[in-house]
Amino acid sequence: MESDRIKWNKRYESEDSYLGERPSLFLMNEIERIKRLAPGNKALDIACGEGRNSVFLAQNGFNVTGLDISDIGLSKAVARAEAGGVVVNFRRVDLEQFEIIERYDLILNFNFLLRDLIPSEVRALKPGGLLLFDTILESPQLLSSHNPAYLLRKGELEQLFGSYAGKILFSEENHSGDMPTARLLFQKA
Ligand SMILES: C[S@@+](CC[C@H](N)C(=O)[O-])C[C@H]1O[C@@H](n2cnc3c(N)ncnc32)[C@H](O)[C@@H]1O
Repeated sequence: MESDRIKWNKRYESEDSYLGERPSLFLMNEIERIKRLAPGNKALDIACGEGRNSVFLAQNGFNVTGLDISDIGLSKAVARAEAGGVVVNFRRVDLEQFEIIERYDLILNFNFLLRDLIPSEVRALKPGGLLLFDTILESPQLLSSHNPAYLLRKGELEQLFGSYAGKILFSEENHSGDMPTARLLFQKA
């Protein structure tokens, strides 16, 4: 949606690095297992923002496509890839209107929730492909400031991925702190 592009462009303009310079801790913790288990090196970073995770994956040998609606976020991502000595295929798309056509060995979905996209993400995985999901959980303190449509419910991630053919290799919900989160690593059968 155009309003998402405008909202995220403003956020990315207002800070040097909206979600920090470092890749996700979950991704860093899992990278060795990911490299061991992924059937190949073709990766997709859903709603990649300023590219911190796309660049990290590229530096770890993946051929990465990063998708996002924010042109400001993506231009920062391109600069980050250049500075990091890697090439990433960043594309501006509205994921609400987007169909994932290609097949991937690895898909990241971090800090973004579009429930209707999840079945297509699983479909887009090659057999044995990995999907890492990590985003915000609903909690009383967040419900006042966040749109509830973009917050995961308790147990939702496990329940969702438990219904697909494959294995949940890791799953965790952290309810403490001011930003509760759920994360999961799924491997398609
Ligand atoms: C919290 S940021 C997460 C960025 C990145 N995944 C990370 O963890 O660093 C959410 C991202 O979703 C993107 N986004 C929001 N709505 C979108 C849409 N409809 N299509 C594509 N990207 C969208 C925003 O531009 C923003 O970069």
